[in-house]
Amino acid sequence: MFRSHTCGELRLHHANTEVKLAGWVQTIRKFGSISFVDLRDRYGITQLLFGEALTTELDANPLGREFVLQVSGTVTERSNKNTNIPTGDIEINVQSFQVLNKSAVPPFTIQDDTDGGDDLRMKYRYLDLRRHAVKKNLELRYAVNRATRDYLHQQDFMDIETPFLIKSTPEGARDFVVPSRMNPGEFYALPQSPQTFKQLLMVSGYDRYYQIVKCFRDEDLRADRQPEFTQIDCEMAFVEQEDILNMFEGLVKYIFKEVKAIDYNAPVERMTWENAMWHFGNDKPDIRFDMKIANLKSAFMKAGAIVATGELINDAGFGIFEQAETVLAIAVPGAADYTRKQIDELTDWVRRPQIGMQGMVYIKVNQDGTYKSSVDKFYSEEKLKTIANAALAAKGDLVLILAGKEERTRKAISELRLELGQRLGLRNPQEFRLLWVVDFPLFEYDEDGNRWVARHHPFTSPKPDQIETMISNDPSIANASEYLKHPYSNIKANAYDMVLNGNEVGGGSIRIYQRALQEKMFAALGMSPEEARHKFGFLLGAFEYGAPPHGGIAFGLDRLCSILGGTESIRDFIAFPKNNSGRDVMLDAPSTIDEKQMEELHLVSKLK
Ligand code: AMO
Repeated sequence: MFRSHTCGELRLHHANTEVKLAGWVQTIRKFGSISFVDLRDRYGITQLLFGEALTTELDANPLGREFVLQVSGTVTERSNKNTNIPTGDIEINVQSFQVLNKSAVPPFTIQDDTDGGDDLRMKYRYLDLRRHAVKKNLELRYAVNRATRDYLHQQDFMDIETPFLIKSTPEGARDFVVPSRMNPGEFYALPQSPQTFKQLLMVSGYDRYYQIVKCFRDEDLRADRQPEFTQIDCEMAFVEQEDILNMFEGLVKYIFKEVKAIDYNAPVERMTWENAMWHFGNDKPDIRFDMKIANLKSAFMKAGAIVATGELINDAGFGIFEQAETVLAIAVPGAADYTRKQIDELTDWVRRPQIGMQGMVYIKVNQDGTYKSSVDKFYSEEKLKTIANAALAAKGDLVLILAGKEERTRKAISELRLELGQRLGLRNPQEFRLLWVVDFPLFEYDEDGNRWVARHHPFTSPKPDQIETMISNDPSIANASEYLKHPYSNIKANAYDMVLNGNEVGGGSIRIYQRALQEKMFAALGMSPEEARHKFGFLLGAFEYGAPPHGGIAFGLDRLCSILGGTESIRDFIAFPKNNSGRDVMLDAPSTIDEKQMEELHLVSKLK
């Protein structure tokens, strides 16, 4: 027997028990003729006491950090208790020990606040994984995984595996492809998601499917994106949007309860995509705080009466707001006392290339009812009041105003809102707010490619009352810049995203299940009938054999875990992640393959 207990298990009531432990040497401290060693395993740390005789042995053959050690000894009460760890009341009075394996000096300390930088820790990920901080994240992931399986099992969902070597599934990214040795010149694609398979399973009658599954997408990486990531992928037949929303807010609430002991009893709020864009500037609003975006264009036009009479604009040349395509503002609560320096710093912040604004205007709504603004010169106090009111500012607030092109300005104010929420401590990582964003547009227009693209994916159905608009209109557009006038711009999808603390943790839709409508969708996306048949003939064919109405959703497991764990970096919740260039620095992958393999795969012609 290697061990009788783990290093996290022993307590005072075990005193006088003979035990055997095995683990890794965390620290070694020598006090005169005796030594203390902290022994660590997955479960915790236990202090070992080496008496005089054994310390002499250690002097001859010293232990080192990360040596693998087995000890036998007696549990004894510690005179000097450590209240920071659960085993802190006891220590093991070691009678004998054995070094099971030595260790080279690790390249960084295996502690919560390690001295190892990111790259080094990724290179030695197997050592990084020994750290408590990382282990805790993987434990959380496992708990989410288990809770998910429990809940879905209780609800009659069946876990069914789908293949990885497939034909392309469009989810908006590039495919990773795999050359086929047996089929020269042909390639498999790795699934961006199991989308078409889960729909086929519905046709086959497995009306509640789920899978915790790897998906592969060749896209630019960010803190919340990996080239291979995991989805909790689900599909149901005979459902409407409402059924899906209820079922899956149930899942997330169950996860909250099981993993975080949080009773999320409140109904999950819902917001239309349009309201999300209008009030929060993006489609995944963080609703832990308010600070809604106000559209000031009309307020400025009113205030601008002064300008219209030529009183001021001619003197000062200040017509920015009246001329801008969009004027947007937020009222920052309690920030009217910001100093000049703080405001200048915020102005620099919005001028950074990532935000791309030329400047920012402020109005302070002082407690005494007076107004102070960077555009005092151009607007009377009365006008400033009109503007501040339009921005929904209260006494003590600081109104921040951005103006410019619609899309860029909306994006910028949305970023500014989040930044201020962060600075004011309104984005508490321990507070969780769920939101359904619904009624997305079915299409987006790609002005460069001059074509419609599916906002979610091509299998998403339009709202039932808009199917007719889709069928009866020709998708082509004479003048690309006028796409907003095309009826397709107004078609809403039966699609929904789940947003948690400002992050999209899941997304799905009710699907198209009739061949004719699916064909119309492919045509709207610019696919010829031949191309549609070549790419998706299997699905179109399946729809002819009694496809039931169906819909589903997929959650990003890595994202869900990282948010529950209080960070936005999903890498910390993946055992062996890739870096931002998509490299596995531990394996040194991707890497070249040898000529012979290239030949076998028909990637180069045979050497003569
Ligand atoms: P979608 O593309 O919205 O939907 O993906 C679902 C969820 O997966 C997560 N996600 C990612 N996580 C980490 N790295 C990535 N590169 C990445 N890309 C996406 C997000 C996202 O909300 N087949 C559809 C689902 C459906 O319609 O049922 C799909 O894949 O959290």
